[in-house]
Amino acid sequence: MKKTETKNSAVLIENLDKYLDGKQILFGINLSIGSGEVFGFLGPNGAGKTTTMKAILGLIRPDAGTISILGDSTLSNETKEKIGFMPENTYLYKYLTGREFLRFNGKFFNISDTELDERIEEILQKVGLETAGDKLLAKYSKGMLQRIGLGQAIINNPSVVFLDEPMSGLDPIGRKMVKDLILELKKKGTTVFFNTHILSDVESICNSFAIIHQGHLVASDSVKNLDKPLEEYFIEKIHENTEGELEVC
Ligand SMILES: Nc1ncnc2c1ncn2[C@@H]1O[C@H](COP(=O)(O)OP(=O)(O)OP(=O)(O)O)[C@@H](O)[C@H]1O
Ligand SMILES: [Mg+2]
Repeated sequence: MKKTETKNSAVLIENLDKYLDGKQILFGINLSIGSGEVFGFLGPNGAGKTTTMKAILGLIRPDAGTISILGDSTLSNETKEKIGFMPENTYLYKYLTGREFLRFNGKFFNISDTELDERIEEILQKVGLETAGDKLLAKYSKGMLQRIGLGQAIINNPSVVFLDEPMSGLDPIGRKMVKDLILELKKKGTTVFFNTHILSDVESICNSFAIIHQGHLVASDSVKNLDKPLEEYFIEKIHENTEGELEVC
C-alpha cells in the first residue's frame, strides 16, 4: 500500500480533473477532509458532486490528479474494507428481502456469520426497517429503498463513509433518522463525506463543507467560520462564480 505523507487526512484530493464524453467536468479539484470529520459537499445540479465521489471511490478513472483515502492512494483491498458507500441511485436486487440484501452486501467483507447477523438486525433497527426486513425490495417504497441503501453503506462498520444525497426522497422522520445516524457515526470517529442540497443539515451536522460549481471548487471552509446563513453564502458564491468568471478557491 502506498502511503501519502499528509497526516490526519481521511480523504485527500489534489488537482483532480475529469473529462466525460470529451467535455471537462472537473477542473483541478482540491479537498482535504480530516479524520473523524463530517463533510458536506454542495453544489447545483450537474456541478460535479457525484462525479467527484465516483472518482474518489475508483468507480471512474481521474484524468489528472491524485486521490488518497486513509493515506492510501492505491485503493487497496485493505482500504476498501474500511469504506462504505451509498450511491445516488442504488442498484437494488428487487427479489431479495431487505435482510437478504444486507447479508449479500455484508458477504463482500471479512465479517463472521454471527457478527453479520447481529449487524443486520442492528442496522434494520437503525434505519427504521425492523418490521420490513423480510419484505421483498420490489415492495419497498422509495424512502424504504433509500433507507436500506444507507443500511448497506454501514454494514462493514466503515471508517470512512461516502453518501450521495442520503436525505433525498425521505420523509421528515427519515431525514431525522439519517441525521441522527450521521451524528452517531461522527461520535464514533467515522469520517462522513456526503453530497447534499439541504443546507440546514450541513449547518447542523457538518464540521466542514465545500461548494462546487460548473466543475470548479468555489468555496471550502469550516462550518464554524460562517458569518452568515449558509443559504446566503451559497447563493453569493454561485452568483460570484457564474458565467465564466470563476474565482476558484
Ligand atoms: N456518464 C456521463 N457521461 C457524460 N456526462 C456526464 C456523465 N455523468 C455525468 N455527466 C455530466 O457531468 C456533470 C456533473 O454531473 P454530476 O452527476 O457529477 O453532478 P451532481 O453535482 O452530482 O448533480 P446532482 O446534484 O444533480 O446530483 C453534468 O454536466 C453531467 O451532465
Ligand atoms: Mg449527484
